[in-house]
Amino acid sequence: MKVTLSVIKADIGGYVGHSASHPQIKDHARSILENAKKGKKIFDYEVLSCGDDLNLVLTHGRGEDSEEIHALAWRTFEECTEKARELKLYGVGQDLLSDTFSGNIKGLGPGFVEIEFEERESEPVIIFMADKTSPGAWNYTVYKIFADPFNTIGLVIDPSMHNGFYFDVLDVFEDKIVTFKTPEELYDMLVFVGTTEHYCVKDVRKEEGGEVVAASTTQKLNIMAGRYVGKDDPVLIVRAQHGFPAVGEILEPFTMPHLVEGWMRGSHRGPLMPVSFEHATPSRFDGPPRVIAAGFQLANGKLIGPRDHFDDPAFDEARKKANLVADYMRAHGPFEPHRLPLDEMEYTTLPEVKKRLEGRFKAVK
Ligand code: F6R
Ligand code: MG
Ligand code: MG
Repeated sequence: MKVTLSVIKADIGGYVGHSASHPQIKDHARSILENAKKGKKIFDYEVLSCGDDLNLVLTHGRGEDSEEIHALAWRTFEECTEKARELKLYGVGQDLLSDTFSGNIKGLGPGFVEIEFEERESEPVIIFMADKTSPGAWNYTVYKIFADPFNTIGLVIDPSMHNGFYFDVLDVFEDKIVTFKTPEELYDMLVFVGTTEHYCVKDVRKEEGGEVVAASTTQKLNIMAGRYVGKDDPVLIVRAQHGFPAVGEILEPFTMPHLVEGWMRGSHRGPLMPVSFEHATPSRFDGPPRVIAAGFQLANGKLIGPRDHFDDPAFDEARKKANLVADYMRAHGPFEPHRLPLDEMEYTTLPEVKKRLEGRFKAVK
């Protein structure tokens, strides 16, 4: 049977500050989606949060870019925004850039990722959700899972994975996609995906243009609105097992808390810390950036789960390392490379300060 898995997310208000989503907001979203499930609009749903982002996980039979599904998500966010307003949560409606919905959620602020596929005999899926970072954060992860034999031994010893994968890479500024075949074009690909604020891995497939194995949100809120209006905390879906990477190969990259862009005021680099659902609440310096892993088995479109994969002592050392790296990066204070380069910061006073000091810059003789 064909199933579409849609994850649609938005920050519609934080509790407290930008640190979490309020339980009442999540309950409200659940009640709306429960009605949609009863009305057979969707097969199933789950509501999760990472930091101040509300993530709606939906399964349905309506395909990608379905107006009905996007409208359902939009209505859920709007109603949750009203609830957030009653509670006077922080940054109410932060990611909703429009007052009106016109058929598709693209460009309206929320992030989304959708995959339509034939549900396999058994369909394990992992959904990663991150807060205080941006879509380029997944480039390292996806490279490790699908192209690094030191991470994924299946690339070497599983005959059904030995041919490698196709990566669709998006140039977020030019809005163009280029496809690379790994391992053959690995070095070419790394030239691009190592520049995480410019190029993002959008999809991974086994055959060129074929079925999607992994997909990520690639909206950049700053570019969509023509100015920086918020962080575009990203989601990544990865289908697992039986010719795709194993669950353990998919989780393995997170033992290395790599540096990502975001953290305080969307203007810093810091380690991506894998955490349990309970600890998906940025604190120190509004961070460090966090990621949760929600695992599901799909059963005729029903979401069996979630399993909280990072609620596991096997990731304790990664968390410890992330804290050490956080100390080290924080010690740089307002200096790069902790603070982002001027043109990548979400907050800046540069134009104003430069203007004020204009007359004081003298030519060097
Ligand atoms: C980063 C983030 C926070 C805020 C910071 C200041 O993505 O959400 O670090 O940028 O708390 O927030 P405001 O300007 O709303 O006071
Ligand atoms: Mg927020
Ligand atoms: Mg957020």
